[in-house]
Amino acid sequence: MRQAVIAGNWKMHMTCAEARAYAAAFLPLLGELPGDREVVLAPPFTAISALSEALAGSAVRIASQNVHWDDVGAYTGMISAPMLLEHGVSHTIVGHSEPRKYYSETDEQINLRARTAQKSGMIPILCVGESDSQREAGEAERVIRRQVDQGLEGLDPTQLVVAYEPIWAIGTGKTCGAEEANRLCGLIRGWVGYDDVIIQYGGSVKAENIDLLMAQPDIDGVLVGGASLDPAGFARIARYQVPVAA
Ligand code: PGA
Repeated sequence: MRQAVIAGNWKMHMTCAEARAYAAAFLPLLGELPGDREVVLAPPFTAISALSEALAGSAVRIASQNVHWDDVGAYTGMISAPMLLEHGVSHTIVGHSEPRKYYSETDEQINLRARTAQKSGMIPILCVGESDSQREAGEAERVIRRQVDQGLEGLDPTQLVVAYEPIWAIGTGKTCGAEEANRLCGLIRGWVGYDDVIIQYGGSVKAENIDLLMAQPDIDGVLVGGASLDPAGFARIARYQVPVAA
């Protein structure tokens, strides 16, 4: 059985002090989790160390919000895998639609980042997804297929999470319908060509829709932005319950 990955992406939110306060509130609310899921938090780089210390001894794992493909070098503003590993980072988000849009990240760069992550022993959470206009033009599948083919080239699918994040659903409150999200996740699984690859859905996930999303057979977890900033809300998301089929 695939282990679900419930990940919270804090984006550019939370100082070290706020991250410590979050952990103190979150861990008791999270309690003991069933073994069918893993919980990951992605703070900004500056709060990784503080959060990692505050979560020590818990099962919650830490992701970075990006990683450079070289270990050292003249890359102002970047951060490398050895720097992240030193602080216990286990996952790294690559190819998120925000760096794709604001910093013009390409599928080739995203692939380099993901390869480096895997070589360093981290699990890349590789994001793919179509924009509003691409969906309206009937191009969603073609766009995602290209992102999957180029972004995943040469990667080990057993050490990978793919996040399907339709851009029009990110931070907008518009969730993709659970069945449509499941359909795309199923297509992605086929394109990856490995049945047990972990595929998340992301885009306006919240406590109110998590149970329905996680009930879908091809959705193996979620990547949560806004709703992960509230410890109680994110603990509820991590404690999702899928109704048992009669
Ligand atoms: P959102 O963000 O949950 O705030 O829509 C999702 C994401 O960017 O991964």
